[in-house]
Amino acid sequence: MTDKQKRAKRMEAEARANANIALAKYWGKADIALNLPAVPSLSLTLKGLETITRVRFEEGRAGDAITLDGRAATAKEAARVTKLLDQVRAKARLPFGAVVVTENRFPTAAGLASSASGFAALAAAAHHAAGLGDKPKVISAIARQASASAARSVYGGFVKLPAGKPGQATLSARQTFAEDHWDVRIVVAETVRGPKKVGSTEGMERSRRTSPFYASWVEAAPALCRRIERAVKARDLDALGPAMEQSTWAFHACAMASDPGIVYPAPATLRAIDAVKTMREDGLSVWATMDAGPHVKALCAAKDARRVAARLSRVEGVTKTRTCRPGPGVRVKA
Ligand code: DP6
Repeated sequence: MTDKQKRAKRMEAEARANANIALAKYWGKADIALNLPAVPSLSLTLKGLETITRVRFEEGRAGDAITLDGRAATAKEAARVTKLLDQVRAKARLPFGAVVVTENRFPTAAGLASSASGFAALAAAAHHAAGLGDKPKVISAIARQASASAARSVYGGFVKLPAGKPGQATLSARQTFAEDHWDVRIVVAETVRGPKKVGSTEGMERSRRTSPFYASWVEAAPALCRRIERAVKARDLDALGPAMEQSTWAFHACAMASDPGIVYPAPATLRAIDAVKTMREDGLSVWATMDAGPHVKALCAAKDARRVAARLSRVEGVTKTRTCRPGPGVRVKA
């Protein structure tokens, strides 16, 4: 191997990261430029909803070449990736462009393809490829600047991202409990698509500017997050469920009251939520949440997951269900 080939080999890494579901929701920014959340959030990393990203910095290369799921990235997607790579290049004093290849191993159209696993994998792969080593806190802070939920996917299990204070460039997430802390399940019910969704970044900014409920949401969120953290610690589903549902509804109420309103639930979303409530009335401890989209995620004990999935798959408009267990954080192969 020539010296040049050896150097090129060192400037390459592959990372895998999983998606996560927020049990306590993030919605709103304290600092737009640094992408700092206005509220604390707490999530569960989900096994099997994985993004694999390979980054190779090439000596002498000017721009970045970015492939997402086998196609060239759009200009908007590429700009977000390059912005993250620029942070890494600045830290490593690396003046080279990169070849980035990313693949989502989400089951076909799981409706969950989130920026969280993507930017967590990208941040980790780029950090390693640039020779900056394995520093999860730093990687989480880099991922956060691209997408705040991605800061959480750097870690496995139950993960907290505190609210940021303007200017706090180093804010990162941290693991509160490892993935073996509690054997819960998230049953994802994919619903028929509603109208074209408003992306989270745009949606939360519209809420901050126009929603009369925004201030109340930001005020209420920390106590909800604390309740959720306590319930996770105690492995108490009957305490976690209601707090998670309230966090969900409070963020959606804030989004809906924006101008123009941001309405993520589709008719099938409401039917699935109703099915979750009916199962509860029948004695199951099962609780619903949704993010910036129409799909429903039901939280339950491992032993009840099969029943929950079977019931949700019978809901009119639910096209598919998938059951996820707690998963690991980012893994890197140099
Ligand atoms: C509703 O992390 O996608 O899923 O930081 O602007 O990229 P940006 O937003 P993003 O927002 C996720 C919002 C949410 C709730 C959550 O995951 O906490």
